[in-house]
Amino acid sequence: MIRGISEKRWLIAQQYQRTYQQQKALQICGYEKDIIFDRSIHSKRVCNLLSPFLTLTDSNRILEVGSGPNGIGFFINTGDRYGIDSLAGFYHHKFSSLQVGSKVKTICGKGEQLPFRAETFNLIICDNVLDHTMNPELVIKETQYVLKKNGVLFLAVDVHSWAGHLLSLIHEHLIGRWIILKWFGSHPFYFRYKDVVQLLNRYGFRIAFKDLQPHPPESNKARSVLSQLKLGLWKFLFHTRYNQIVCINLG
Ligand SMILES: C[S@@+](CC[C@H](N)C(=O)[O-])C[C@H]1O[C@@H](n2cnc3c(N)ncnc32)[C@H](O)[C@@H]1O
Repeated sequence: MIRGISEKRWLIAQQYQRTYQQQKALQICGYEKDIIFDRSIHSKRVCNLLSPFLTLTDSNRILEVGSGPNGIGFFINTGDRYGIDSLAGFYHHKFSSLQVGSKVKTICGKGEQLPFRAETFNLIICDNVLDHTMNPELVIKETQYVLKKNGVLFLAVDVHSWAGHLLSLIHEHLIGRWIILKWFGSHPFYFRYKDVVQLLNRYGFRIAFKDLQPHPPESNKARSVLSQLKLGLWKFLFHTRYNQIVCINLG
């Protein structure tokens, strides 16, 4: 079982997220079209991954948990679409230019307590959210509850080496009692791949597809010796991978 964190710790993570998004809102000013284009490409890629497992039609109900300012669901053009995010009101206000014309119904709420009936959705998307939540175990449990039998969950989450996982535990359970380090600020959890697999299996999900990408993406650009050293240390400690998983709800 993955132990949840206190509400106090989660609210700190949310504050980090809000500050990060506030900065992003300033940086994207004037580049909205480019951002929308990039995000729509990401969404298309995910839809391609999903296509062997689900045919997207207008009769589908789709939910994005942790939909952010303009998550994947904002660019899917079929079905009845919902997004839920604990910062949905803030995003609606700060990122209105990215959400304009979207038919996604966004709700301010938590993945740990989804305001929907059992077996409502054909597809649930959870992209880079699970390690930001208060209780990942509850989020997956709720997801399974509101997803139809044989429905599809697209889960993307960073996974780390045992070293990163251990450092995060030390931070959360020892150092974090006094001070939250910026490095771990918005991420209360550093999962290993096996933690994610075990979590999904506990709630009756079968992994149908997985893809582990280096994170940050590898670049061929020449780097200074110092930045190469930094990257080497980062890789040694965390060995982060952006992990995309398509799962089927076996019920
Ligand atoms: C890194 S952002 C990713 C947003 C979006 N999925 C994307 O890829 O752009 C993580 C999001 O999860 C949201 N979040 C954190 N904890 C949550 C919870 N318990 N329930 C719902 N959303 C949550 C945050 O507010 C934030 O918008």
